[in-house]
Amino acid sequence: MIMTGNPFADRDIISTLDFTKEEIEYLLDVAINMEDIAKNGSTLLSNKILGSIFLEPSTRTRLSFDAAMKHLGGQVIGFADWDKSSIKKGETLYDTFKVVESFADILVIRSEWEGTAKYAAEILDIPVINAGSGAQEHPTQSFLDLMTIKQERGSLDGITIGICGDLTYGRTVHSLLPLLINYDVNLKLISPPELKVRLEDKTILESRNVQFEEAESLDEVLPELDVLYMTRMQRERFRSEEEFLTVKNYYVLTRSLLTKGKIDLLVMHPLPRINEIEPDVDALPQAVYFKQPKYGLLLRIALLGLIFDVF
Ligand code: NCD
Repeated sequence: MIMTGNPFADRDIISTLDFTKEEIEYLLDVAINMEDIAKNGSTLLSNKILGSIFLEPSTRTRLSFDAAMKHLGGQVIGFADWDKSSIKKGETLYDTFKVVESFADILVIRSEWEGTAKYAAEILDIPVINAGSGAQEHPTQSFLDLMTIKQERGSLDGITIGICGDLTYGRTVHSLLPLLINYDVNLKLISPPELKVRLEDKTILESRNVQFEEAESLDEVLPELDVLYMTRMQRERFRSEEEFLTVKNYYVLTRSLLTKGKIDLLVMHPLPRINEIEPDVDALPQAVYFKQPKYGLLLRIALLGLIFDVF
């Protein structure tokens, strides 16, 4: 299908499930052409203000949206230290969002509660971007993950992707799977038995006949992989610290383990990395996790420009 017009104009970005393959590819094609803006800047959004509300910790996502908006010539307002906002005084999210709407042209929101971004999109007239909603979704991370695989490998079709770690609570996994169903990939879902991929994710994979297999041992599966997407155990989402401690060191990717893998394996991670990839892996050509934030900047420049329809 050939796209007519820009499907992202004035659109909320809440869940990766909301996008067709054509739309995803359109976004990635625009993103790869954002190098010049990332390098030299532009004034395309010089009259626009991005409202940035982060109610949960963030490094990459928040700074990346900030940088993307600034490269486009726009301004950023907002807060990441929510305990200094009126939410601390008991103001509702409804009131907070409504107030930000009177100052900003677009809202980027992260929160520990599932459904927050969707709720914001329902009550606001400005576009809303979900920058992480509890264990639920993190669509822009997954777009950039897909972009990384595509750019680093050339194509997604025919490859085997291992997704390893906390597959229950990891929101980047939950957002990535609905993107991968659009391609002819073979998935290995590697997790401790208590942190398997959610039933709803399996249903999505099955509905599109995606080949997948659940596994517990990374060592056994590693030789078959073209891409290994590592994730951290989502400590803050476990029911107890005890539960976290039992899985904390379940997977640790080492140089020696990587010798069992394909020579051109891509090792990815949405970051932050805790202990699941040893630091001496960073220098290997397989490690692309520090390239991901660079693709993320291009992706977010593209997304903001498309939502405001300025390209
Ligand atoms: C991820 C997140 O916040 O979900 N981080 C990010 O935005 N790159 C991954 C994580 O916290 O484990």
